[in-house]
Amino acid sequence: MASSSDYEAGKNLYFGKGCNGCHGTKAEGMTTYPALANRAKGFLAYKLKRFRSEISDKQIQEMMIPFAIGLSDKEIDQLCIFLNEYVDEQTERYDIEYTTEGDGGS
Ligand code: HEC
Repeated sequence: MASSSDYEAGKNLYFGKGCNGCHGTKAEGMTTYPALANRAKGFLAYKLKRFRSEISDKQIQEMMIPFAIGLSDKEIDQLCIFLNEYVDEQTERYDIEYTTEGDGGS
């Protein structure tokens, strides 16, 4: 099981490297850019390592090469943890910190 710090590191990489510019702020994808959220970690890592080795199966994938080329194995791992375990914080936020105070209003 991945630690939450890997998730956070992956998230920082995703936004820091501009992945969100094409794949979306929720990794939901858009038009020709595939969705990445909650996809299999092994598949994501396989693709990123291929792009890093400058291998593309079709022309549109060449777009990915400059973004993958600088990534270390650890960074790929962290990115894939973040994407695989992705949760939409916008919808999570409301119920996480909910606590009842006092006697519950008797
Ligand atoms: C300039 C736009 C662009 C940016 C920025 C970008 N990507 Fe991509 N990405 C693409 C395109 C285009 C494809 C290939 C789509 C296809 O195969 O049809 C792709 C494919 C992928 C795939 C394979 C998904 C699949 O279904 O085959 C992964 C994983 C991925 N990108 C991760 C990333 C990560 C991580 C970053 C940031 C480091 C990133 N991308 C930045 C455009 C982009």
